[in-house]
Amino acid sequence: MNIRHDFSTARPAGILPPQPGIREIAEALGYSPDWNWSWENYKPMLLALAESYGLRDHLEIGGGRDPVFSEADLARHDIRVTINDISETELALAPAAFSKLCCDIAAPTTVAQVGRERFDFAYCRMVMEHVEDVAQMWRNVHAVLRPGGAALSFFPTLYAPPFVLNELMPERLSRAVLHTFFPDRRDGGENPKFPAHYTLCRGSERVLVPLLREIGFREVEVLPFYGYSYFWKVPGLRQVDAAFTALARARDWRTFTSFAYVIVRK
Ligand SMILES: C[S@@+](CC[C@H](N)C(=O)[O-])C[C@H]1O[C@@H](n2cnc3c(N)ncnc32)[C@H](O)[C@@H]1O
Repeated sequence: MNIRHDFSTARPAGILPPQPGIREIAEALGYSPDWNWSWENYKPMLLALAESYGLRDHLEIGGGRDPVFSEADLARHDIRVTINDISETELALAPAAFSKLCCDIAAPTTVAQVGRERFDFAYCRMVMEHVEDVAQMWRNVHAVLRPGGAALSFFPTLYAPPFVLNELMPERLSRAVLHTFFPDRRDGGENPKFPAHYTLCRGSERVLVPLLREIGFREVEVLPFYGYSYFWKVPGLRQVDAAFTALARARDWRTFTSFAYVIVRK
């Protein structure tokens, strides 16, 4: 058989193939704006980004007692993970195999404490809503990342009704509601409740993208998600809420997203 080779597309030696964009990586995983997708694909998304961009030195922000990777994952995926948390108590509950870093990710002193360009991947799940100075958090993340590094934040967004209620209710009342509907979540128990501020926690590009660009990230992607299970135990409200969520998702009304991934590259 006579095979013809097209050498016009061959790459000169030493030139690496182009890397996929963040959106391409998400699409390859089958990105869907359904909230279940965001929870089921958080770890696969981290692994896909790490693999695509060769990210080996990770910082999990606010990983506390429940880091995303297990000890076995570290060898399996050839990654090193440092777990950060603001709380010594939470960090003490993290597995012993991980390096640990106790600090407020949003403090002005954090970069000096952690070191510039120390990591190539930083990520957090359900942490950003607890941080008051989110702009400082992202400035710190940018500083501790090496050029070419990436970061992902997975967070709940306003103005999804359950999070609006959580923000409006006094802390004692929101704890009482949480304990009534989710009795397994008790203070100081398996899953303590941390006060939430929701600063810049939105599913719209208009809120976060300008800040992240100004900080210096060269690529910024926001993946919005719709839906949640908070009202499933309330008959009537469940159906009304499901209909509204379906409409918001169909029209991509970013004001009413429930969760978002913000993914950036330095
Ligand atoms: C709701 S828990 C989420 C824990 C874990 N990421 C998960 O998804 O299960 C929030 C965590 O973020 C930590 N945290 C809150 N504010 C923080 C900050 N400014 N810097 C670092 N960690 C913080 C809390 O101590 C807690 O461990």
